[in-house]
Parts: sequence; C-alpha cells; structure tokens
Amino acid sequence: IDELLAEGVSGKRVFVRADLNVPLDGTTITDDGRIRAVVPTVKALAEAGARVVVASHLGRPKGAPDPAFSLGPAAARLGELLGADVAFATDTVGESARATVAGLSDGHVAVIENLRFNAGETSKDDAERGAFADELAALADLYVGDGFGAVHRKHASVYDLPARLPHAAGYLIATEVGVLKKLTEDVQRPYVVVLGGAKVSDKLGVIDHLLEKADRILIGGGMAYTFLKAQGHEVGISLLQEDQVPACREYLERAEKRGVEFVLPVDVLVSAEFPDLKTKAPAHPTTVAADAIPATEEGLDIGPETRKLYASKLADAATVFWNGPMGVFEHPDYAEGTKAVAQALADSPAFTVVGGGDSAAAVRTLGFDEKAFGHISTGGGASLEYLEGKTLPGLAALED
Ligand code: 3PG
Repeated sequence: IDELLAEGVSGKRVFVRADLNVPLDGTTITDDGRIRAVVPTVKALAEAGARVVVASHLGRPKGAPDPAFSLGPAAARLGELLGADVAFATDTVGESARATVAGLSDGHVAVIENLRFNAGETSKDDAERGAFADELAALADLYVGDGFGAVHRKHASVYDLPARLPHAAGYLIATEVGVLKKLTEDVQRPYVVVLGGAKVSDKLGVIDHLLEKADRILIGGGMAYTFLKAQGHEVGISLLQEDQVPACREYLERAEKRGVEFVLPVDVLVSAEFPDLKTKAPAHPTTVAADAIPATEEGLDIGPETRKLYASKLADAATVFWNGPMGVFEHPDYAEGTKAVAQALADSPAFTVVGGGDSAAAVRTLGFDEKAFGHISTGGGASLEYLEGKTLPGLAALED
C-alpha cells in the first residue's frame, strides 16, 4: 500500500476488501476488533485523497439480501472510529452502490452492502464469480486487500477482483503475515500451541502440521472430547466427532513418537444441560475427572486442575499460539478455563499470538488488555490455514 500511496491515489476510487465480519447481537456489535484493525489502511487512503470503497462479507447469508446480515452497523462503527461521515450503499453492485460511489468526493469513505448478498461472491463456478468480480471492478480504479480473516476464501472479492485492478496489500495483511511468518520460520522455543473450539475436524490440518513444529500442544474446548475418546475414555453427552476418533488416535501416537508433549484436560466442568447464553442463568456445573464424565452429562469447560496444569505448561514458553476457547466462555460459569489461558498468555514474557475470531473476542470481552498479548490476529480459519502452509487465495492474488 505504501507504493500505491507514493504513486498517488488522490481522486482515485480505491476498493478496500476488509473483513468486517463482526459478532452481532441484533444490530449491536459485541466486538469491533476487526473494524478497528482496518482503520489504518482506510485512514491512510482517505488522507491521501482517495475515494475509498470499503467492502466485506458478514456472516453466511445465502447469496441474497438478508437484513439480519446487513453491514449497516459495521459501516456506522467505521464512521465513529474514523471520526468522519461514512456513506452506506444499501446494495453491493446495484443502483445504490453505483450512486454512492459516484457521489464520493476525494478523501471520503463509503461502505457497500454485504458482498455475500450476491451469489457470485462465493460461487464455485469461475465464470459466475468472474462476472460478479467484473461488476465490482466497475466501482473502482485500484484494489487494496486488507481482509486478512477472509484470505483463505477463493471468493470473487478476495481472489478474482485483484486480477482485474492494480492491487496492493493493506497494513493489516502486512502485519498479520509478518507475525505468522515468525511462527513458521525460525520460531523461538519452547513453542507451545493451545487449541480449543468446538470441532476437531476444523483443526486436523493444523495439528498435522504442528506435530512437526511445536514442542507442546494443549487441547481444550469441545474438540478435547474426541481426543479423550481416542484415549479410551467415555465422554457422556459431550461434543464428539466419532468419525475423527481414529485421526485423533493417530495424532496422539505420532506426538509420542516425535517427542511432542500432547496435553489433554485432566478434569472438566460438566452439566446435564447446555447453559442458557441469553439469560446467563446460573448453570451449577460440577467438576469431574476427565476419565469419569457421567453418561448423561456433557463437558463444557476445562476444570480447575487443568487450568493450573495449562498455566504451568505455558510458563516457560518462548512462543505461544492460541486458537479456540477452552469452554463455553460466553456463559460466566464456563469462562474460567478460557480466562486462565488468556491470563497465562498475558503474564507470559513469550511472544504470544491469539488467532481466531472466538479467542480474540474472548480476550476482549473477558476484559483483558490487548496490549498484554504479542498479537491478536483477526483471522481464524485464515491464520490456521497459513500455519498449515497452504496457499491462501487472497494472498496469492496480491503477490504478483
Ligand atoms: C471468519 O470469520 O473467519 C472470516 O470472516 C471468514 O468467514 P467465513 O468462515 O464465513 O468465510
């Protein structure tokens, strides 16, 4: 982007592909981290006199307009953060978008409506995606990719559009890639990885890769139960991906052979019922050993012994990567495990990277100071796929 700015962008329409996919409670943004993260790029372009067109997806609407997924609240928040009026187009490439962009004066910013209101954005068909990219290209003279959270998606605005316009990477993408490079090249050891979240199937690729890289892997969240099952324990009605048990068993064996310490919960908080996340009514969980989960109960957080164990396993780390909460942190009775991991990272002198929408949101909503962490990534799937060594379409498209 610095080269683009040096060449001069005044009066040019610059399309910024951001990731404004923020968590919403109705129309209230519960974590605006992703919006704040794109502000430096938008600001630099606007200050240089560009006419900035910001675009993003939000959620997973079905290729047609759906008010529940409007980018309106995100556009308003972007305006607050910029301290400037931000125009909002109520469609993506239609009359409203064309008129809004045509009405932009130098140094002003517009947000167009959710890219995924158009089926072409996510289409698997190259021609359909290309046709939508052509329509987007008509709105701009230049392209800046800065939606790091979406670079693993081969979508029209991420992959096809940069091929149609002179393009550059924004500041956020440059920062994110710089940090992830530190985790893949010449990593400082001990390198400890904490993985949580619901599904083990989302993490298999990264575990496979990390077994060659990390010194220690700590597992929590819903995915822990498939590993506990692979160790031969019963997990009651906990989240379980039965079809992934053999893969988990293989990973446990490989970790042992390679001398990678693979750590599973030793105790968990269980309940017969999933907590009410709306009312947050007390859930009264009980603590049981991880190999003694009752048949009618489900594990919803790591227990107190595991919290201590994981803090001790993080204490001597030189590098930490954390992705995925340890439990249902949205409910206060199941937030302690995620809090304990966040606290251990915050206290650690290691280079700490928090990746993933959920863990990043957890860190902020649980009241931690972002500055206590080395880096909080805006990418969930994107940072995992980067660590897996995969080619990310949105980065490849910006490279040439
Ligand atoms: C994310 O939240 O990880 C990104 O915004 C990508 O969203 P997606 O998984 O719906 O493509």
